[in-house]
Amino acid sequence: MDCLVNSTKLSLTQLASQVKECTLCQLYKTRTNVVFGEGNSEAALMLIGEGPGEVEDQNGRPFVGPAGQKLDEVLASVGIMREEVYITNVVKCRPPGNREPLSEEMERCYPYLEAQIALINPQIILSLGNVSTRVLLDTNAGITMLRGQFKRWRGDIEIFPIFHPSYLLRYQSREKGSPKYLTWIDIQKVKERLDRNRKP
Ligand code: URA
Repeated sequence: MDCLVNSTKLSLTQLASQVKECTLCQLYKTRTNVVFGEGNSEAALMLIGEGPGEVEDQNGRPFVGPAGQKLDEVLASVGIMREEVYITNVVKCRPPGNREPLSEEMERCYPYLEAQIALINPQIILSLGNVSTRVLLDTNAGITMLRGQFKRWRGDIEIFPIFHPSYLLRYQSREKGSPKYLTWIDIQKVKERLDRNRKP
């Protein structure tokens, strides 16, 4: 049977077991593992990337390849540990050759992401790069325009777009205005907001 997110409230673990069996789009044919997501199920900060790459497909875990190392560095620069956050992707199976997920693939997978967001109920969602930002904010605007700003999204959740860590890997410069420099500024804003939210 196809795995649909039904109206019953599932736990993250139950949802993950459903998604593991998913055949709703063609990506199941070429995947090694479903990459559901992982981390703190009560995280104040949730990170959403595009889709698993090769290393993630092999391991069944999000952001464990080179982009993941860069992501860990960005978080660590403001003292955020990976264990504190919840990390997932728009699509849970690797698009072959690391192409962008197709609209149909993202549409089929979206209810899983919605369910994850509802269960975790984070304060802030970091949308990593163009694909997740476009999907979540339902916009065609690019990441360069949208990054570094909080956007209120459904109730109390705020979305904060930043450059995708893979993009940072392509640009070595740390000079003022470079993608790395801007991301460093952006992640500090996120840290400040989290600290402020924590205060009574
Ligand atoms: N890129 C993504 O968007 N997600 C991953 O999990 C790995 C690389």
